[in-house]
Parts: sequence; structure tokens; C-alpha cells
Amino acid sequence: MPTTRRYLMCPPTYFTVEYAINPWMDPTQPTSTSLAVEQWTALKETYERLGHEVHVIDPVAGLPDMVFSANSGTVIDGRVLGSRFRAEQRAAEADHFRRWFLGAGYKSVVMPTAVNEAEGDFTWTGSLLLAGTGFRTDPHAHSEAQEVLGVPVVSLQLVDPRFYHLDVALFMLDDQSSSPLVAYYPEAFSPGSQQVLRRLFPDAVIANDDDAVCLGLNAVSDGKHVVMPVEAVHLAEQVARRGFEPVLVDISELRKSGGGPKCCTMELRG
Ligand code: ARG
Repeated sequence: MPTTRRYLMCPPTYFTVEYAINPWMDPTQPTSTSLAVEQWTALKETYERLGHEVHVIDPVAGLPDMVFSANSGTVIDGRVLGSRFRAEQRAAEADHFRRWFLGAGYKSVVMPTAVNEAEGDFTWTGSLLLAGTGFRTDPHAHSEAQEVLGVPVVSLQLVDPRFYHLDVALFMLDDQSSSPLVAYYPEAFSPGSQQVLRRLFPDAVIANDDDAVCLGLNAVSDGKHVVMPVEAVHLAEQVARRGFEPVLVDISELRKSGGGPKCCTMELRG
């Protein structure tokens, strides 16, 4: 069953690829800001059509990656853990989001001391916080998240630089039921973390190479509709077979920066 969600998004008004902090980014290749805006607008309208509430933060000139709002906060039960970016080029984004949260009336807003790229590396299952590390978020941020948010954290080791954030390797299909359902790409994780995932989620949807390399795992589910990149054909089929409804979006321009639908979408829970 779908549940209504609240999302925070940032328009890609100043989007471009002018530095490379992941293997997807190539500053010598052209990008189109207007196409990025078009694709982002279609994504936002998709959420609204599905009945979700989308909040928008003002973009800031000179912060081309600010469109990836998922990296700037983890919100569970109305408590906010902000972010601290690994790359200096993105560092200033964190404070813009902190101020947005305060302006929106959030009472508990804590900024991390360890490198923490928020929902880029944190996925809430409804009862556990899955926490990626290996490329961006520091493992110390995992225990910090556990203390600040008061939720149990399960650390997962990412091993493939193309899948540098947890949210390009795994997403929740259902975070409302007592047996949460996930989809993930096993090869993005260390052998031990693959075992952890098999133990926790024996009936997960397993993505293949083709799904992973179009950033198909960077998807957003409301428990019924799964907003995902149009190229993720096999994954969409698997998801449909489990009774979900894939909603395909073209996000090709933002992929040039290593992002997809989920990266552009922070969930505001409670
Ligand atoms: N260019 C951005 C970076 O490398 C992309 C971030 C994508 N966001 C995400 N949640 N995976 O930081």
C-alpha cells in the first residue's frame, strides 16, 4: 500500500559538472542545465501526481551538486541529523540545509562531527538504519547517527567506486511493514556485508549489472509506486513481479554527476 510522503528537493538551477568526486563525473563532457531542470521538474511533478508533498529549498550559485538534497540530512521521527561532506566542493551545502530545517520549525537539528553524507549513505528500513561506508560517510558517523537519532544502525561496507554511496546500491521497496522489503546489487558490497544483507533480507529483490550501471538502485518507493530511472528494465520487471508499480523517469542529465531520482530526494519523516 502506498503511503503519502514528504520530500525536500532543490532545483538544479546551477547544475553543472565542474569537478570530479566520483567516477561518473567528467568535467570535460558538456552538460545542459536546462535539460537537468526539465528532468528534475518532471521528477517533482511525478511525486506530486502520486500525492506526495514536495518542499523546495532555494539553490545557491556555486554549489552545482546542491540538487542532490538526499546528501544533506537524515530525518527520522522529526529529528534531524545534518551532513558533513567529504569533498570540500560540497561542504557549504550542509549549512544551507541546516538553516532550512530551522526555518521549517524542526526543533532537534544536530550537525555531525564525522563525515556524513546523510541519505546518500543512510537508508531507513522502518526499524533499522542501514549505513554505508567505504567511499564517503565515515564509520564514526554510524555510531553518531545511532546516538543522535536513537535508532539501531547496521554498518555496510561498499567496495566498488562506481557505487560510492549506499543509495546507488540499495533502496527500500517497503519500509512500512514488519518485514521490510529491499532491492540491492550484491556486488557493490563486501562479502561480509553481502552476508548481513542476506540474513536481514532473505527475500530481497536482487539487481543485476545492467540495473546497477544505470543507477537503477537510486529509486524512491512509497510502498507501491517505485520511481526509477527508465533504463533499469530488468529491475522494473522484478519490482513489478513483487506487486509494485514502476514509474519510470528520465534523469540522464543528472547521472552525469553520479545521481538519480533518490539523490534528488530527501525524505522528511515525521
Ligand atoms: N556529484 C555528487 C557527489 O558525488 C552526486 C551525489 C549523488 N547523491 C546521492 N545521494 N548518491 O557527491
